[in-house]
Amino acid sequence: MKRDGFGSKLGIIAAAAGSAVGLGNIYRFPCELGNNGGGAFLIVYLLIVLGLGVPVMLSEFVIGRRTQKNPVGAFRMLRPKSGWPIIGYLGVICGLIILAFYSTVAGWTLEYIVKAVGDQFSGKDLSVIEQEFSDFHNLGWKNVLWQVVFIFLTAFVVFKGVADGIEKYSKILMPLLVLILIVLAIRSITLPGGTDGLSFLFKPDFSKITGSVVISALGQAFFSLSMGMGVLITYGSYIKKEDNLLSSSVSVVLADTLVAVLAGLVIFPAAFSFGVQPTAGMGLVFNTLPMIFNQMSGGYFFCIIFFVLLAVAALTSTISLLEVIVAYLVEELHINRRWATVVAAVASAIVGVFASLSLKNGSAFSIGGNSFFNCLDFVSSNILLPIGAFFIVLFVGWIMGKSEFFAEVTNEGKLKMSIKGIVFFIIKFLAPVAIAIIFVTGLF
Ligand code: PHE
Repeated sequence: MKRDGFGSKLGIIAAAAGSAVGLGNIYRFPCELGNNGGGAFLIVYLLIVLGLGVPVMLSEFVIGRRTQKNPVGAFRMLRPKSGWPIIGYLGVICGLIILAFYSTVAGWTLEYIVKAVGDQFSGKDLSVIEQEFSDFHNLGWKNVLWQVVFIFLTAFVVFKGVADGIEKYSKILMPLLVLILIVLAIRSITLPGGTDGLSFLFKPDFSKITGSVVISALGQAFFSLSMGMGVLITYGSYIKKEDNLLSSSVSVVLADTLVAVLAGLVIFPAAFSFGVQPTAGMGLVFNTLPMIFNQMSGGYFFCIIFFVLLAVAALTSTISLLEVIVAYLVEELHINRRWATVVAAVASAIVGVFASLSLKNGSAFSIGGNSFFNCLDFVSSNILLPIGAFFIVLFVGWIMGKSEFFAEVTNEGKLKMSIKGIVFFIIKFLAPVAIAIIFVTGLF
């Protein structure tokens, strides 16, 4: 069957890594780490990513490639007339929520490209850069403008079905991002006082591990790997039948984790050196980075290249989010691809505008003292993604069952895979139990 969607079958690693690597690694990871006690968070995060990343990712790929469908259609096909499609619906809604607040930050990368090209950071003190960042928030309309531009760009790519072209670029651009992160990390660590940042990252204070640290690490792990809401089911449905799902999952998990840790190595030494608080949240990244470029020879060019790469990394993530909603609308509601893209983009832009405006000082868009932006972020990452992931592994382990799972991971027996039994055991027993325990103890 020729499916609507991306122009051609995607290279699995490029596509999934494109979705995984993004603002989650470079912006959200340092924020969460800084707010949740540094090194202790890093340890919990790494344990979760390395323990749960592969089983959950693989489960999503298996469901997607087996059914060749969007998340709702996939569950419906495998278990017609059951409640399972609810997990798919949850994923589509979660995609809309994430796209709404993610596009706010994605928009900032565009603003920062413009600033970088105009050489607007150089020679400025931290206090000036901080002031300009907070002024930018408080303007409101400018955030919204960039956000809408970003969603438009995303919609353009998804509608044109040129995502496979984007993936080809990202095969070159993502390694370049890693390279530039390495250069920045070296600069950051060698700044005066930079080693304090290393201690913050790598000297865990275990007394800092609380329920909220654990749940934040769980949410961040799933968010960063794009897991638990059907992006990887949808991408799984576009994956070639001869790709190796298991080894690809391992590669994507490792690549994503590498980028996150590198981001930590860039941000924290510099933040400690310049006196940016690790709990500074958004400013942690958006104020520290320009300061690093200010301390580098060739900083002007590095700054431009970095923010362009960051924007592209964000774009390959927003494409995956929008694609989930569009695939659902096209395949289940039989809306044509053009209208499906328009509807999904407009809906996320409308929710997104409130997210952006909620970041203004004294904004009315807050719930219980938290900005609407933070509420969307918390509910989707720390609640919906773990719930989604829990039911996805449960589905593969208990409903789909061993023989169908084996058939799909071994490409109908073509791949020799001696560890498939162990992997299935982890998916069936360990992963759901671990997610449930972390989620419940973390939340309560
Ligand atoms: N993983 C992406 C990032 O780290 C964000 C994302 C989350 C994308 C969930 C799709 C689904 O930037």
